[in-house]
Amino acid sequence: MSKKVLAIYYSQSGQLGEIIDSMTEPLAASGAIVEKVRIRPVTDYPFPWKSDHFYSVMPDCVLGVPVELAPFTLKESSYDLIVLGYQAWFLYPSIPCNSLLQHPDFRAVLKNTPVLTVTGARNMWLNAFEGVRKLLTEAGAILTGNIALVDRHPNIVSFVTIFHWLLGGKKDRKWGIFPKPGVSDADITHTKVFGELALPYLNSGNWEGYQKDLVSQKAAVVSYPLWKLESTAIPTYVKWAHFIVGRKKRTAWLAAFKYYILFALFIGAPILLIIDAVFIKPFSSRHIKAKKQYYLELN
Ligand SMILES: Cc1cc2nc3c(=O)[nH]c(=O)nc-3n(C[C@H](O)[C@H](O)[C@H](O)COP(=O)(O)O)c2cc1C
Repeated sequence: MSKKVLAIYYSQSGQLGEIIDSMTEPLAASGAIVEKVRIRPVTDYPFPWKSDHFYSVMPDCVLGVPVELAPFTLKESSYDLIVLGYQAWFLYPSIPCNSLLQHPDFRAVLKNTPVLTVTGARNMWLNAFEGVRKLLTEAGAILTGNIALVDRHPNIVSFVTIFHWLLGGKKDRKWGIFPKPGVSDADITHTKVFGELALPYLNSGNWEGYQKDLVSQKAAVVSYPLWKLESTAIPTYVKWAHFIVGRKKRTAWLAAFKYYILFALFIGAPILLIIDAVFIKPFSSRHIKAKKQYYLELN
């Protein structure tokens, strides 16, 4: 009997959809029935974004506040594999993805089902993955693999280019000078290799070893400096989120948060990384290795 695969995701620009298409292509070619579902909130987020609206979703992302999703139908009540697309928003699972993971109908399908998570991020996905992993565990799903595609350009370059894309709506080169934003076309096409790797596991129903295969093919890579910046930013984001939701002048405080991010990126981050490189990193190799393993091994 054909294996049944559900590929479910939210995407604004379509990038995550392209990644999911590429990843599931070999599964469909091998005879599996691949059902694709693109979810949407009842009130969807605008694309392209306006700057103020973009920053205004930060508190709800960080605090995990769900929104109502437009009704969606799943053809089956159980699947051999669920491919879950998620994206990071402000270092946390995007609001639509978080809402899906809290949706009772979807949680019922997740129970006891192997799940492969797939993201197309700028470059900071570790905490969002943590959030997704926690919600999957709560729903009784079996996490079998994680694919994390990123923009491989330097942090500051990808910051500039992603804003060009998210606020302008076009995934093209800013001023014809900067590189194309987001996950590269080559990396999106290459994702089908990870789908090919999944075939024997899908057919046997035993997923032991799949994540190891994915890691050996660099389906997910943990960069120490980016992890350092992300883990340092998280407690500050949480404080900002709690502070902002309690304010009457929310718009003014969101503007302050925007300037905080710019300060953190252009001034705080280089200083932090220099101090870390001199005083912390040389003495923490065991801790760093253990952390990397934690993110890459799934157990
Ligand atoms: C509101 C918002 C916040 C984002 N925050 C992050 C982030 O913290 N880390 C990251 O790597 N990418 C971040 N991104 C980029 C997204 O993860 C994703 O790469 C991009 O939005 C394209 O996804 P799409 O398939 O939904 O169009 C953010 C995007 C948006 C819209």
